[in-house]
Amino acid sequence: MGKLDGKVAIVTGAARGIGRAYARRLASLGAKVAVCDINLRSYAEYEGEAAAMTGDSTVDEIRAAGGDSIGFEFDIGERDAVFAMVDDVVKAWGSADILIANAGGGRGSIAETTATTVRPELIELVTRMNLFGTMHSCAAVAPHMQERRWGRIVTVASIGGIHANVGGGYAHYGANKAAIAHYTRFLAQELGPWNINCNCIAPGVIETARIVQLMGRHRGNNEVAPAIALRRHGTPEDCAKVIEFLCTDLSDYVTGTLIPVDGGSSIASGGV
Ligand SMILES: NC(=O)c1ccc[n+]([C@@H]2O[C@H](COP(=O)([O-])OP(=O)(O)OC[C@H]3O[C@@H](n4cnc5c(N)ncnc54)[C@H](O)[C@@H]3O)[C@@H](O)[C@H]2O)c1
Repeated sequence: MGKLDGKVAIVTGAARGIGRAYARRLASLGAKVAVCDINLRSYAEYEGEAAAMTGDSTVDEIRAAGGDSIGFEFDIGERDAVFAMVDDVVKAWGSADILIANAGGGRGSIAETTATTVRPELIELVTRMNLFGTMHSCAAVAPHMQERRWGRIVTVASIGGIHANVGGGYAHYGANKAAIAHYTRFLAQELGPWNINCNCIAPGVIETARIVQLMGRHRGNNEVAPAIALRRHGTPEDCAKVIEFLCTDLSDYVTGTLIPVDGGSSIASGGV
């Protein structure tokens, strides 16, 4: 018996990186998983992500492991498309029990995105991908969870939403992630009476194949940023373990929290 047998999970931004690890972890626990992404083969944009794939998509990987999965390709910033996906999931599987609102990320360079210099187009793009996408996803699943009086929602912030980068770069991203964390506290207050737990995780530097390709792999104990207590960057699995905690009965009395998964970081680290 898997801990999540009979549950239906939706993971956004699950074609690669950390979202892919969430989707695979929830499937391994027995959940049926809707894999959502603007491009279900986005892994192809990074050699390292493509090399890590064991199938043509996260959906195929889950199915090959004996799980149940459906893929949905749409822009998380399009509210109607998000609602249509959730309707399709409920039609196919009868419920929407778990949401991991993971789609998001930053755009633009650190140097060009300080609090006063970031361009309006970048503010809009990043806010659509992060805060708006998260809000649309939560609004779409909530009525289905309320109907069944059970639900688990995990939103995704960042250490960049807790600490400001030295120099002030990536302000649009950090502000979005801080907003997601605070939105989640309101969400928890609203949905708690229906036994729907809502929590937010804040990853630190997580070494997806994309991040390794862009930033290089950490160089071992004391050479990695001394500001990280555990002296290593995180892995997608480090985050997926916390997702398992937040989606199973281990966290029945945990809601409205922000959980950093950052190895004990005391400062933000570049654009994450
Ligand atoms: N990797 C890190 O170090 C790190 C640190 C802190 C927070 N995070 C957050 O964790 C989440 C996942 O990070 P990642 O490193 O795996 O990112 P990633 O860029 O590797 O993957 C993000 C996925 O989301 C999809 N996506 C992007 N825009 C979308 C849209 N508009 N609609 C639907 N899907 C869209 C992409 O196609 C991609 O598959 C993001 O919210 C990110 O901000 C990551």
